[in-house]
Amino acid sequence: MKSIQNAIETFKNTFGQALKNASTEPLLEEVRITFLGRKGTLADLMDQLKQLSIEEKRIYGPQLNELKQWAENAFFSQKEALNNKSQHAELEKERHFDVTANKPDVLYGSLHPLTILKERIENIFLSMGYRIADGPEVDNDHYNFQALNIPEDHPARDMWDTFWLDIPGLLLRTHTSSVQARVLAESQPPLAVVVPGRTYRHEATDATHDFQFMQLEGIIVDKNISMGNLIATCHAFLQQLFKSETIQLRVRPSYFPFVEPGIEFDMSCPFCTDGCSVCKYSKWIEAGGAGLIHPNVLKSAGIDHHTYSGFAFGFGLTRLAMILYGINDIRLLHSGKIEFLEQFS
Ligand code: PHE
Repeated sequence: MKSIQNAIETFKNTFGQALKNASTEPLLEEVRITFLGRKGTLADLMDQLKQLSIEEKRIYGPQLNELKQWAENAFFSQKEALNNKSQHAELEKERHFDVTANKPDVLYGSLHPLTILKERIENIFLSMGYRIADGPEVDNDHYNFQALNIPEDHPARDMWDTFWLDIPGLLLRTHTSSVQARVLAESQPPLAVVVPGRTYRHEATDATHDFQFMQLEGIIVDKNISMGNLIATCHAFLQQLFKSETIQLRVRPSYFPFVEPGIEFDMSCPFCTDGCSVCKYSKWIEAGGAGLIHPNVLKSAGIDHHTYSGFAFGFGLTRLAMILYGINDIRLLHSGKIEFLEQFS
């Protein structure tokens, strides 16, 4: 009799104390198992009840039930208190979040090499008095071909492997010359414009070819524009880009329907004087196409070709980036590889 009475008292004290000390959820779970679990102290007491006489059961039965109720309530209120405390701590953490804290291991992004080069080139031409223009990458037959003196079914169309869209007459521009045609149609001379932009060709991809690359178009239309102006401008541009006075320009006759005469130019290799792997041991690197704007192109844009003349050039901007930064595989530029990109930060 006495012993069960004592056991009830002891349970109350030890359980109460243990609850108070259970400051974390795992500790509280331990307390639950020890005191309220299937083989815990309370279950023991309940077992002891079975051995008592009917009379004793009448006395201690209700007491034990009350004890059980009390213990469970105490346990749940402690559990709730702990829950509230941890939620509160989370909220506090957020409330005191320090947005100015210095986190030394932050990874900074960097500009893509093509963006860096594009901005450099834009600055060079801005300093020469050019303005920068842009145009759509999905363009139409008119601006990509017809306005450039390349009528439908003209064999010269084979020079550009074209991505045609399902919508008739629309294509991915094969060169930035489509923007040349747009600028001429929209503005009046005198004008000096450069257009850096993405272009597309339906070509197999390898280390030096991609179906998408960047070009740099440049045009000037004014009175008395000559081949001399064209060559001097391209020469000055390359000297500034490669920061080298010694770069030379070599001109070869070529054919593009929108210029007459047409040329292609090579620049002397900026890395060697007697051949290296960049220039494939030829000392020269192909740099682009150019020429004096064909009278038909001026006519189609509504510009008086008797009063005005102009030049146009097209550089491979991606190619210049590869030469300038020593990139040996064009596919790296679109690979999204962090190890490649972080070299340009
Ligand atoms: N658009 C030509 C090409 O992509 C290059 C070019 C531009 C040639 C301007 C002459 C004048 O091949």
